[in-house]
Amino acid sequence: NLPKLIHISETSSTNTYMHDLLAREEVPEGSCVWADFQTAGRGQIGNVWESEAGKNLTFSIVLYPTFLPANRQFLISELSAYSVKELLDRYTSDITVKWPNDVYWKDRKICGMLIENDLAGQNLYASVSGIGINLNQPEFRGDAPNPVSLYQILGHEVDREKLMKEFLDIFYANYLLILEGREEELQDKYLKSLYRKDGFFVYEDANGRFEAAFDGIEPTGHLLLRLKDGSRRRYEFKEVKFIL
Ligand code: BTN
Repeated sequence: NLPKLIHISETSSTNTYMHDLLAREEVPEGSCVWADFQTAGRGQIGNVWESEAGKNLTFSIVLYPTFLPANRQFLISELSAYSVKELLDRYTSDITVKWPNDVYWKDRKICGMLIENDLAGQNLYASVSGIGINLNQPEFRGDAPNPVSLYQILGHEVDREKLMKEFLDIFYANYLLILEGREEELQDKYLKSLYRKDGFFVYEDANGRFEAAFDGIEPTGHLLLRLKDGSRRRYEFKEVKFIL
């Protein structure tokens, strides 16, 4: 059962479309729903994801990593974010992965993702990676703080379908690393790609701002930061902000 690439012109959200499809029929692993326009694109923590019609890539891919314990679901974030970096590296430089799963060009966000995992007991069942990559959008009007598109970086448009297909090849090849038990190679690539990997930067948590350096990521996905006095802090997603 080969994965399908379903290209539709419009839907509310490709993640929702994929979940509805999964409820109705058997969907081969690796299948992708790709929409030219989302009327209600969903972002992290209930935000909306704005993307001009026909300009960018907004898609969702389903995997069935049933062999992965639920506490290793961060691997799917690493897979998805690193694969976008690998794609964009073919077109420009200065692409990094911002923990946990944004992709940045310099200090600006070029891609966001919403990964929704269903569990079956202690293990993962279906995992839907919903990915939005800003490709040909000339300008951003929404209230996202620091968006950028590949068009703004390169000064010309790119072929969306070509990048969609290139991405899927990269994503499947990296997923194979997990299937073959070589996930350490993937984790290594993810770590090497990280935004603000070296040196001290300003962060903010519930207690205020502080300077810290990256000190690692736990298998659960928690971020470890090291302060100048040598003390360490451990964060869950959304407990800490990166300050410019
Ligand atoms: C974020 O950075 O807040 C996450 C944005 C995720 C957007 C993508 S676009 C394709 C998929 N469908 C959605 O509704 N959201 C994700």
